[in-house]
Amino acid sequence: MYDFRIEAADKATLYADLASALEGLVAGEPDGIANMANAAALIWESVPDLNWAGFYRNIGGELVLGPFQGRAACIRIPFGKGVCGAAASTRQVQRVDDVHAFPGHIACDSASNSELVVPIVRDGKLLAVLDLDSPLGARFTDEDEAGCLKLCEILASAI
Ligand code: SME
Repeated sequence: MYDFRIEAADKATLYADLASALEGLVAGEPDGIANMANAAALIWESVPDLNWAGFYRNIGGELVLGPFQGRAACIRIPFGKGVCGAAASTRQVQRVDDVHAFPGHIACDSASNSELVVPIVRDGKLLAVLDLDSPLGARFTDEDEAGCLKLCEILASAI
């Protein structure tokens, strides 16, 4: 049994603790789906004010729903479409303070108001994106972005 209780006082500590927990969880496990599933669970349990946390995988140039926590979501997203598709086609982090103002945003859960999507790239190939949704407006800050980039760096060699 894994019993991670991450209750950090500030975001920098939260993401440092999350990164070391994730490193421990994926160590020695070659199955990428299992590692994404544990990463989604860890983030969901530890990062406050989320209504969705999970992955879309790059399957033949299309994003396909991967392991996640939250409500059932749209299964396939073309590159370039919505926030996840923008992250996949540009390979740039997408931090959206108000998803309703984002052209082409895909509303999987009407409770979502802000979103952070981080591409996961290994050897020049886009493997997946990490997608976090929040019911709060402008929920994600520079610290969330830096923390999630670190988590995705760990996952780049574990999925
Ligand atoms: N809102 C996303 C779609 C995925 S869900 O949020 C889980 C988007 O616009 O890409």
